[in-house]
Formats: sequence, C-alpha cells, structure tokens
Amino acid sequence: MKVFINKRIPEIGTKMLEETGLQIIFPENENLSYEEWLDYCKNADAILNVGGDFKYDKTFFEACPNVKAIALYSVGFDHVDIKEANQRNIPVGNTPDVLSRATSDVAFLLMQSVARRASYNFQKVKDGNWNAFDPLHALGQELYGKTLGIFGLGRIGFEMAEKSRKAFDMNIIYHNRSRNEQAEKEFGATYVSFDELIKSSDVLSVHANFTPEQANLFNISVFEKMKSNAIFINTARGGFHQQKDLYNALVEEKIWGAGLDVTNPEPMSADDPILELSNICVLPHIGSATIEARNGMARLAAENIIAFSKGGRMPHCANPEVYSH
Ligand code: DGY
Repeated sequence: MKVFINKRIPEIGTKMLEETGLQIIFPENENLSYEEWLDYCKNADAILNVGGDFKYDKTFFEACPNVKAIALYSVGFDHVDIKEANQRNIPVGNTPDVLSRATSDVAFLLMQSVARRASYNFQKVKDGNWNAFDPLHALGQELYGKTLGIFGLGRIGFEMAEKSRKAFDMNIIYHNRSRNEQAEKEFGATYVSFDELIKSSDVLSVHANFTPEQANLFNISVFEKMKSNAIFINTARGGFHQQKDLYNALVEEKIWGAGLDVTNPEPMSADDPILELSNICVLPHIGSATIEARNGMARLAAENIIAFSKGGRMPHCANPEVYSH
C-alpha cells in the first residue's frame, strides 16, 4: 500500500509505517503547488496529511479515486468535507488528546501575555525603551477570581479551564453543543447561552471545532457586547473571528486585548495593522508545537494508517459513521 506524506513528520510515525511494510512517498520538495500535491495524491492509496493548505473536497475526491483513507496530522478536520468522504466510505483519522495539553498551554500563555502586556513590553526592551519606573504606564490586569468563558468545552477547552481554575481560581462558564458534566463536577463550570458567555466573560477563549456556519462568529456585534476589560483568545481556527472587526474593537477599546494563535487569514500579512497594537499577542499557530505533542500526533496518525492497511477501523477517527454499515 502506498502512503503519501506531504511533509516530514517525527520519526516515530514514519518508523511505525515502515516496520509495517508500507511504502511511504514523500515529495521531493515540500512546498507543493495544488497541482503537484494532487498528482502525488492520485498515485496513493492512503494519505497522511500535514497542514491545512489544501482542501479535501468534492474536486479532490473526484480527482483521486484511488485514495481510500486519509489520516490527518491534526485534531482539526475542517479542511475535509466529511460528507464527501462519507459518501465514498473513506475514513478520516485525526489526532485527538495528544495535543490538548500543548494547545491549552498556548491559550493559557496568551491569556497571561495579553493580561500583562508581555509582547508590548518585550518590544520596548528590544527598541531600547526600557524607561524609568512609571507607576501609571502600560498596566496589566490580574486574572485572580475573574470569569473565564470557554467557547467549545471539549478536551482542549477542558484543559484550559482546569489550568485557569487552579492557577487563578477563575470562575468558569462555557457554551458548547452539549453539557460537559465532568467540568461542571470537577471545577463548577456553568453552562450558559452564547449571549451570556460573551457578556459575562473577562477572558473569552475559543476552543470549538470549526465549521463553515461559524465563520466570523466573533465579529463587531459580538465584540461590542463583551466587557471593556475582556481579553479574546483564539487558539482554535482563525475563521472564527473577523480580524478587521477585532482590530476595530481593540482600537476603539470595546475590548481590552486579544491573544491569537490562529489568524484570519492564515498566515496573516506582516503588514496587518493589528500587529501594531499594544494590546495584542500573535503566535504563528504553534498550539501543538511541542516535542511531546508532535510525537503523539505522529504515533496516532501512523496507528490510523496501519489499522486501515490491515483492514481494521482507524482507532482515532473523525467520521466513525463510515464504520456503521
Ligand atoms: C490541529 O491539530 O488541528 C492543530 O490546529 C494543528 O493544525
């Protein structure tokens, strides 16, 4: 069985595939154009996909009838049209859990960076502006006892809530498709409506799976309803927020600050005026970028391909419904 992997992944994953006797195909050059990528995919039986550059949509599936399985090197699967995959009985694997700690660590890091204006102050040092002690300049805010609103309380949201509760005794509210009883029991998380979430959060952190219906959900009408001291954190997908609206909300002080590990568009332009603001911290989508998480992702993606190659069920599957018939 031929497995196409578009970018090098940690060795633990490739080793597992090789030891199973699978033929791995890597591109000569990892910066593929869409056409080049498609050509590689056409010749593969299964794909281990790294990154979200190209969409697995109807066009892809029609162009690549040989592809029988896709193992994503990510927990998010918003770049795959699951309906199209289901119609063709193609399992789509993902990598849950192994990156929950690392990604929630980044949300936690951004929350603190923004609250204490870390980026702004670091820039001052780099610019040679380490000025005399000023009791009034660039003051941050403390997080103790504040309200953290989680949009999407799944595995990553849970970790973020737990850390914030333990570190700062934050009051946790959340909005989700379904209730999270464990979070309610373990740290008194309270389920609230979306409206209540945006109005009551001192920090609002986005952790949901992205779907096209949620594009630009966090726009000016939402930012206007948020508290003026609120910090908006997005480590999920940039598509959740309207970046121009976020910029305006920050400039007009509708909200206090923002921390982004994902941007809209992504990657964003270095000229984006949002980067000039003093109340923002932006990272280049590094949520899962730890040795531990990336090794875990490689292992899970390899497990998915191996299970498929042996005629079994992918153990970490984004569309388990393909196995129900
Ligand atoms: C994920 O796993 O979905 C991360 O965002 C990396 O793409």
